[in-house]
Amino acid sequence: MPNIAIIGASRGIGLEFVRQYAADGWRVYATTRTPDSPGALGKMRGDIRIHHLDVRSDTHIARFADVLSKVALDVLVHNAGVLNSRGRASPEEIAETMRVNAEAPIATVSALIDSVIASEQKKVAVISSIQGSGRPRPSSPDLYGDSKGELNKRFRVIEPEWRSLGVTAVALHPGYVKTDMTGQHAGITTTESVSGMRSLLAGLTPGDSGRFLDYRGKDIAW
Ligand SMILES: NC(=O)c1ccc[n+]([C@@H]2O[C@H](COP(=O)([O-])OP(=O)(O)OC[C@H]3O[C@@H](n4cnc5c(N)ncnc54)[C@H](OP(=O)(O)O)[C@@H]3O)[C@@H](O)[C@H]2O)c1
Repeated sequence: MPNIAIIGASRGIGLEFVRQYAADGWRVYATTRTPDSPGALGKMRGDIRIHHLDVRSDTHIARFADVLSKVALDVLVHNAGVLNSRGRASPEEIAETMRVNAEAPIATVSALIDSVIASEQKKVAVISSIQGSGRPRPSSPDLYGDSKGELNKRFRVIEPEWRSLGVTAVALHPGYVKTDMTGQHAGITTTESVSGMRSLLAGLTPGDSGRFLDYRGKDIAW
């Protein structure tokens, strides 16, 4: 069966990715910041390997890439993200949000790209957000939206390089999903969101590389 790595798998959408791929028989490399107390991730059934990764740490990223250097990753999903502030953000919140949401996905995928290239499917998804569409907008500051807009910008710069290596890489909006990040008033369940993204990923072809898609496969404007 194929291998997948889910970066940021402790809860919410990432945890549901683990559950669904493991239930389908895939080997899942799941990362968490708390491997000693993995919570729900530790209770998941299937071929799941839990690894320690805080995406703010270059050392953690390099170590994880080293551990997986002999593993072929058919699919790599960078899911980790934060919504630190809904109002005026502190300098620390701005730095952390930009690091986790905009810089880490590119750094982590770049570190693991050889493992992706070594696989059969060679697919990458960075979990962005529709709130990054059309961002940044200087007239209406929004830290979370701006950070996802910055991720999109960086993704579009590096994606041609990954494509030239045979990788199919997309940015995904998972929908408005009930998780700790949004609360239970949000629109859809993690099951619905991840089912949609899984079928989209299963159907990806090299010609799709560089697209920004929602969980139903609908294009989103950058
Ligand atoms: N929910 C939505 O409606 C929605 C909409 C658009 C986009 N998204 C995006 O979808 C992704 C998942 O969101 P979610 O709703 O599932 O959020 P969530 O329930 O808050 O989960 C966030 C995940 O990211 C991990 N994470 C945060 N900071 C990290 C770090 N420094 N290093 C490693 N992992 C870290 C968390 O791990 P810990 O448990 O250790 O904190 C957790 O596993 C995010 O990128 C989010 O921006 C969500």
